Amino acid sequence: MTTTPVNVTVTGAAGQIGYALLFRIASGQLLGPDTPVKLRLLEIPQGVKAAEGTAMELDDCAFPLLAGIDIFDDPKQGFEGANVALLVGARPRSKGMERGDLLEANGGIFGPQGEAINAGAADDIRVLVVGNPANTNALIAQQHAPDVPAERFTAMTRLDHNRALSQLASKTGAPVSAIKNLTIWGNHSATQYPDIFHATVDGKNAAELVDQSWLESDFIPTVAKRGAAIIEARGASSAASAANAAIDHVHDWVNGTADDSWTSAAIVSDGSYGVPEGLISSFPVRAKGGKWEIVQGLEISEFSRGKIDASVNELVEERDAVKELGLV
Ligand code: NAD
Ligand code: LMR
Repeated sequence: MTTTPVNVTVTGAAGQIGYALLFRIASGQLLGPDTPVKLRLLEIPQGVKAAEGTAMELDDCAFPLLAGIDIFDDPKQGFEGANVALLVGARPRSKGMERGDLLEANGGIFGPQGEAINAGAADDIRVLVVGNPANTNALIAQQHAPDVPAERFTAMTRLDHNRALSQLASKTGAPVSAIKNLTIWGNHSATQYPDIFHATVDGKNAAELVDQSWLESDFIPTVAKRGAAIIEARGASSAASAANAAIDHVHDWVNGTADDSWTSAAIVSDGSYGVPEGLISSFPVRAKGGKWEIVQGLEISEFSRGKIDASVNELVEERDAVKELGLV
């Protein structure tokens, strides 16, 4: 058993995703059953009391792997020594808002957090940004952390990936476990492109199992607009499913993905598939040796090219907008 606990910083710890996430981290689902964790909860001052309440409940679970909990309202302290940072804290969108509306409101949070990560996080820090607009918030944080390798900053599209798996499973009548090599491309927004052209269901090409009209008029919009549908139905944005996806993302990043499939994550582009270098965009990825690698060599049809470009263009616009605001 590893004896040195891993420091996991969670921002927005008192929020609804935080509440769904922390118990799973403390029970060992983030890093595995042999890795003790120390939680560092970061909140704004108004959130500290509720975070203390959550910490009391965490104590009351007597998790064998939970080696300690500290609560902060100062990013510098919150990220001190962090090995894993889950940047959840941000304002969620409410009914009728698009993610772009959040750029200014949330952009200001991620610069200072990037600086704090740069100043005090552990050398092996891995960052997952969940707070929206996740890709561009991750870019802002990354740009404020010049001493941290850029590849350590990622944004979450695993929830979109899981949503796509589930939709395809229900359409084809196959279990989720029979589906491999699905991809979410681009931004975690309504422009994202869930791509099934390289996916297989029980070894058969997924695109050949469904018709193009279902793909275009049902599957893609259902996956891309699922966040808004959840807000409409629940009156609040997704929480347990978002926490679940965050666990999946970090677990795979640290422990590796299976050899016979890939997953999706928004990572810093190296220019692959024509995505401008430096943008944090979702790709087909495998994790090996603690690093994400973009799956190379996939043939991209004209249909897919158009969809990928549309989402990547939105990321370029978001980057330009936060540049204008002086956030990067
Ligand atoms: P919430 O409002 O319930 O909780 C947010 C928490 O963050 C609050 O407790 C708030 O006090 C805290 N917070 C705000 N600013 C902070 C800061 N500067 N430092 C630390 N904490 C801060 O929201 P939620 O439902 O938990 O959602 C959090 C974010 O996750 C939102 O931006 C939401 O849109 C996003 N989200 C992303 C995905 C995804 O797939 N990427 C999925 C679901 C939700
Ligand atoms: C989601 O996809 O559920 C979240 O990003 C919340 C939202 O605003 O859509």
